[in-house]
Amino acid sequence: MSMTFSGQVALVTGGAAGIGRSTALAFAAEGLKVVVADLDATGGEGTVELIRAAGGEALFVACNVTREADVQRLLACTVEAYGRLDYAFNNAGIEIEQGRLAEGSEAEFDAIMAVNVKGVWLCMKHQLPLLLAQGGGAIVNTASVAGLGAAPKMSIYSASKHAVIGLTKSAAIEYAKKKIRVNAVCPAVIDTDMFRRAYEADPRKAEFAAGMHPLGRIGKVEEIASAVLYLCSDGAAFTTGHALAVDGGATAI
Ligand SMILES: NC(=O)c1ccc[n+]([C@@H]2O[C@H](COP(=O)([O-])OP(=O)(O)OC[C@H]3O[C@@H](n4cnc5c(N)ncnc54)[C@H](O)[C@@H]3O)[C@@H](O)[C@H]2O)c1
Repeated sequence: MSMTFSGQVALVTGGAAGIGRSTALAFAAEGLKVVVADLDATGGEGTVELIRAAGGEALFVACNVTREADVQRLLACTVEAYGRLDYAFNNAGIEIEQGRLAEGSEAEFDAIMAVNVKGVWLCMKHQLPLLLAQGGGAIVNTASVAGLGAAPKMSIYSASKHAVIGLTKSAAIEYAKKKIRVNAVCPAVIDTDMFRRAYEADPRKAEFAAGMHPLGRIGKVEEIASAVLYLCSDGAAFTTGHALAVDGGATAI
């Protein structure tokens, strides 16, 4: 699928694996220069190697999105290497196996909120001034179907993803007149390491996961990447503040 992009540089957090890696590869395949940010240097460099092997241009920057100094450095490295930023995919996120709400721990709460909420907020906080100075751009944040509705035994994760949608909508409204669009993508269960950690140990869980989606299967990382690219592309010029479910029909039930 080919899309039209008016910008040249994309940034992907959580780009070492899963949805982030696939989206970084998809941006590069469209001719964009890509900055891959992640805690995991081995995986991040691996993504960069894959992009270069396919003839693209990319750079890895080690970054913990929960630390403001790291995020500031990430944006400084982006500008230093490529001179600008046009699209940001704030996708780094964690899911910790939880019980029912009363069984959660304070440490789990703090860890999930730090990456999924504070990380997205810090990234947008430091990306928006750059996009403003350049006269526009687009941001996509990774929420989840757990950000659109209840997710039993995942209450903290669900709250964190609802918060991502709140940040997305607020930023979209605040910066709409400045030609900056901000949207969220809401995957259902996607075949990534995160999924495998949560489901693979138990085949009944994997079968249950497939059955949650009317399309009868879990999703592929490429199916999230194409939604992210669409939301960044000129084809989505009239779309902002939207939380796009890419969920095999799960939220239609
Ligand atoms: N896989 C799914 O089924 C699914 C469903 C809905 C939403 N999501 C969301 O999609 C996003 C990507 O998940 P994935 O499935 O590709 O998971 P993944 O675990 O394969 O990849 C997540 C990446 O984020 C990185 N990361 C974690 N904490 C970080 C931090 N503090 N700073 C920088 N990088 C950090 C990890 O190192 C990893 O490379 C997450 O936000 C997740 O919540 C995933």
